[in-house]
Amino acid sequence: MIAAPMIAEFLERFGAAAQPRVYRAPGRVNLIGEHTDYNLGFVLPVALNLATYIAAAPSGDGKLRLYSEDRRELREFDAADLGTIEPAHAWTDYPLGVAQELVRAGVTVEGTNLLIRSTVPDGSGLSSSAALEVSTALALLGGRESDPLELAKLCQRAERNFVAMPCGIMDQYISIFGREHSAVEIDCRSLENRLVKLPEGITFVAVNTMVKHALSGSAYRDRVRECAAAVEDIEAVYPEVQSLRDVSPEQLESVADRLPDVVARRARHVVTEDARVKGFVEASHHGDVTGMGRLMLESHRSLQHDYEVSCEELDYLVDAALGLNGVYGSRMTGGGFGGCTVTMMRTDAATAFRKDIAQAYEQKFHVTPRIYSCEPSDGAGEVKKLETIPGME
Ligand code: GLA
Repeated sequence: MIAAPMIAEFLERFGAAAQPRVYRAPGRVNLIGEHTDYNLGFVLPVALNLATYIAAAPSGDGKLRLYSEDRRELREFDAADLGTIEPAHAWTDYPLGVAQELVRAGVTVEGTNLLIRSTVPDGSGLSSSAALEVSTALALLGGRESDPLELAKLCQRAERNFVAMPCGIMDQYISIFGREHSAVEIDCRSLENRLVKLPEGITFVAVNTMVKHALSGSAYRDRVRECAAAVEDIEAVYPEVQSLRDVSPEQLESVADRLPDVVARRARHVVTEDARVKGFVEASHHGDVTGMGRLMLESHRSLQHDYEVSCEELDYLVDAALGLNGVYGSRMTGGGFGGCTVTMMRTDAATAFRKDIAQAYEQKFHVTPRIYSCEPSDGAGEVKKLETIPGME
């Protein structure tokens, strides 16, 4: 399917008064560096070719209309109310949150019609929320210039303030700064990034458990709180510490006895995970695929035991992947409690891997997992040519 039918559908739904422009914002898979972003540490995501597409044009009647193709739902709001509108605890909170933050930033948001189509599976840990936020921001800006970093921060604020999810910056950032053929190492404090070329001959594959446990939202908030508690305790001994990013493994070791056990384990995950991102990037530069794979597995074990955000389905997929031919490493990716794993393997092993992992998972859970290739793709922007929408052919 190409963008042209999307435009045709837009014109059919909203009338031909204005020709829409189409915007795209990708989902992501995080290779390593989990739950480090809100601790101002390091992450290494890639933008996927799975993305949210929005066709948008001025409505001319002061209304903001959101039509979700996936949900077959049309919602209508007065553009004049966007500055004060309240969350409805529905999918519309993501675009409305973005609209509200744009208004707060002094951007005029006129009545606009939006047709939303997405190939990023919901609740999969591949960041469908950020893809919706960023594509909405571009659609509401309607071609007006904006600073990419400010836009990432604005979309993060939308999620934190309106959706009330205290997320870090990773998902919105990579959706904007993603780059074809590269992973992006993000320093979540300075908000600078560097592109990381991955070794030849390896492929990353995401496998979807097809579950999202109800715990995920509240557990995420708990982890954010536990990390803040750790910082408070550590700061009492090392006053220079402002976030877990600042804590060295030696410092943590020296104060571990003073922290409640759970808090100490959460902190240990974050501190060691930051080091693993560095190690992974280094190993990647040297083409040390075995080392990269080992760090992925260590990351998973740390998320499983110290951070406790994994689940039975994710653990199963990781363990099953490790037994398959050509696999170097595997881990859960994203917030956890369901969603996807990401597995690194020899490219020539990928076809058999997909078949074997699906079979194993089906046998165990009687559910067919969806599987996605993780080709690093470009970040968000306007779709200028009528290109194919990957994943929708
Ligand atoms: C979610 C959040 C991100 C990040 C990850 C975990 O995707 O939106 O900010 O914290 O979880 O790494």
